[in-house]
Amino acid sequence: MAKKKNDSIMDKIVSLCKRKGFIFQSSEIYGGITSCYDYGPLGIEMKKNIKDYWWHIMVRSRSDIEGLDAAILMHPRVWEASGHVSTFTDPLVDCKKCKNRFRADQIENRGVCPTCGGELTEERQFNLMFKTFMGPVENAASVVYLRPETAQGIYVNFLNVQQAMRQKIPFGIAQIGKAFRNEITPGNFTFRTREFEQMEMQFFVKPGTDEEWFEYWKEQRMKYYEHLGVDTSKLRFHQHAENELAHYAAAAFDIEYEFPFGTLELEGIHNRTDFDLSQHKEYSGKDQSYFDEATRERYIPYIIETSAGVDRTLLTCLIDAYEEEQLEKDTRVVLHLAPHIAPIKAGVFPLVKKDGMPEIAHKIVSDLQNHYLVFYDQGGAIGRRYRRMDEVGTPFGITVDTQTLEDQTVTIRERDSMGQVRVAMDKLREYLDEKLKYPE
Ligand code: GAP
Repeated sequence: MAKKKNDSIMDKIVSLCKRKGFIFQSSEIYGGITSCYDYGPLGIEMKKNIKDYWWHIMVRSRSDIEGLDAAILMHPRVWEASGHVSTFTDPLVDCKKCKNRFRADQIENRGVCPTCGGELTEERQFNLMFKTFMGPVENAASVVYLRPETAQGIYVNFLNVQQAMRQKIPFGIAQIGKAFRNEITPGNFTFRTREFEQMEMQFFVKPGTDEEWFEYWKEQRMKYYEHLGVDTSKLRFHQHAENELAHYAAAAFDIEYEFPFGTLELEGIHNRTDFDLSQHKEYSGKDQSYFDEATRERYIPYIIETSAGVDRTLLTCLIDAYEEEQLEKDTRVVLHLAPHIAPIKAGVFPLVKKDGMPEIAHKIVSDLQNHYLVFYDQGGAIGRRYRRMDEVGTPFGITVDTQTLEDQTVTIRERDSMGQVRVAMDKLREYLDEKLKYPE
């Protein structure tokens, strides 16, 4: 049962996402808005599972990382200090003939339009931050930006969190939230959008220990994707060359995934040195140093950052999990999602709509839904009901059948192997708890 994936896999994923309620085009009835997407009932469940697992491993299960939820709108000086006002730009060119816009650094044949062959304008630097105005007056003094990364909200709260939680270096601050970039060329479905969500963690360390921590976080972060069930042969590290480094980074590695449209970044791990805190110290006039009571030293910590995209992670998991499996008589579409990120954990089916089976199945649903998202389905042949669940990655199917009426056991059918076992109804919760627990 080898995996069969072909060139049009992206079309299939986009279509499945819409049909099954994972992801819809934003404002679709008005013709849609470029690069904006809405997560439907199953998409939002899966997204939440991905974020919950990140929060679990990065915050809840550790005592050296604290959580934060900073505001999206920040003082505009933050973005001057961070370097985003002056350097967060991409080179933009326009085609004089077809009027399309491109990132100059992504064009193979410089000066020539990749769409129509027309002549391109001179390059100009385009700032990726979305600008708006705070309050009723639209002038230079009221300009604010939609944050292009969540990281800055962490830096400006470094001492607040450290002091409130009495943390000692090394320690980290983690946050999940929306970021906005006016990308010149968004595309590949949710891979590059103008509004997206990041899961970022900034780890504050003593200068001199940064390289060691950088290696530690590289390893930890790769494990996250392995634990999401992503095919490890498609994951790799890419080290940034000097000319690729962002303005704040002294060293950077991307975790990349082999997408159908190229091997591209999934997460960035950066050594930001003392750049950000030093900049905020200078621009705010407020000391950002840390006093180490044990060694009586005062210093500005270095920062190791791990920065992942929620939307990109979800897209990766969908692509990686998608399979069209050739069975004897037909083809089965199945998402082999890791059980802990699958939106629906179990389908619950009465074999027939009589003999008290629907009542028992409803009782199972009401018992389980305090703990997991489960789905009741009594429509159509049992095989078709299993297939509908396979297509959305539901790992277990629970069927109430004739034997249930005799001995209070149900059939559990497992999505990947399609194997079946019988489990006592009063042991269902225990069975699922074991199967759905986080990987270690
Ligand atoms: N704070 C550092 C930072 O933002 P980045 O490499 O620019 O670093 C980190 O972004 C991650 O955010 C990326 O690896 C990607 O997963 C996600 N991301 C960045 N731009 C995105 C976009 N336009 N659409 C979707 N995800 C994006």
